[in-house]
Amino acid sequence: MPPSNNVDEFRNVLKTSKHIIAVAGAGLSAASGIPTFRGAGGLWRRYDAMSLATPRAFNSRPSLVWQFYHYRRESANKAHLNQAHHSLASFSLPSIRHQIAPDSTFTLITQNVDGLSALALEKALESASDADTNVDQPKILEMHGRIFDVKCTECDHVEFTRASPICPALEGTENLIENNTMDPEIALDELPCCSKCGALARPGVVWFEEMPKYLDVINQIVDRADLCLVVGTSSTVYPAAGYAEEVAEHGGKVAVFNLDRSSGDDEADFLFLGPCEETIATALSV
Ligand code: APR
Repeated sequence: MPPSNNVDEFRNVLKTSKHIIAVAGAGLSAASGIPTFRGAGGLWRRYDAMSLATPRAFNSRPSLVWQFYHYRRESANKAHLNQAHHSLASFSLPSIRHQIAPDSTFTLITQNVDGLSALALEKALESASDADTNVDQPKILEMHGRIFDVKCTECDHVEFTRASPICPALEGTENLIENNTMDPEIALDELPCCSKCGALARPGVVWFEEMPKYLDVINQIVDRADLCLVVGTSSTVYPAAGYAEEVAEHGGKVAVFNLDRSSGDDEADFLFLGPCEETIATALSV
């Protein structure tokens, strides 16, 4: 059977679901002006964004990789929350969620490193009740880390900083985004360094070939989920790409919210094509 796009049917499933998860990707923040990795917007200068997100790329060209992450940090710093962030954050609060999914749990598992979902949650919690702040399971798990974390390559010290620019030498390089840009070469000792030991620091995100964060707790949450919302991800990078299938395999439902067709969406129970800042808002409205 092809997936349904009927919101009322989806709301009926929501009503009876007890353990809900959302697996989010770059499309969640697209409306906030943060470029996605694949498809339109996937190139930075002339580089495929993914070719820069590896330990090997950083080891061989730290100056270039830092310029790429500096550009993404600056974009994230300027970004405004969009309606999809707000809707998922509100849905994280039991007092709101229980109006449409009584007695349910909810965890947002995001691959995004921009911190926008955490910011939206912080804002939602400002006006929340005590019951909303008590947690029996995490409201959000940023499995690929956070772009504002800076991690020492020697002593592993991690510091969260939104400093803009993160160091003087990177200032202005965020504007060099054309294909034919001559990449400035920044000396190692001018790149961000550890505030504790002074060694070269790296962006504190999870790169390809590295282990995502919180896998134990994520596996437990996915194991018992009976509804998986897949929001703005191409579903091509594992393990996140496998969570919907796992939920379906143990009898749960899957609802995909994406601008376009994405990997595995024909297996989903629901498919809502369109900007998630609209579709998620409608699907989770109280
Ligand atoms: N609403 C819904 N979906 C959208 C929107 C939108 N407004 N805009 C774009 N999309 C969809 C695209 O159709 C695409 O399927 O978001 C998806 C973005 O896919 P990717 O760029 O592949 O991003 P993501 O799935 O998050 O990538 C996973 O790969 O590069 C690594 O570590 C990086 O976390 C990232 C991981």
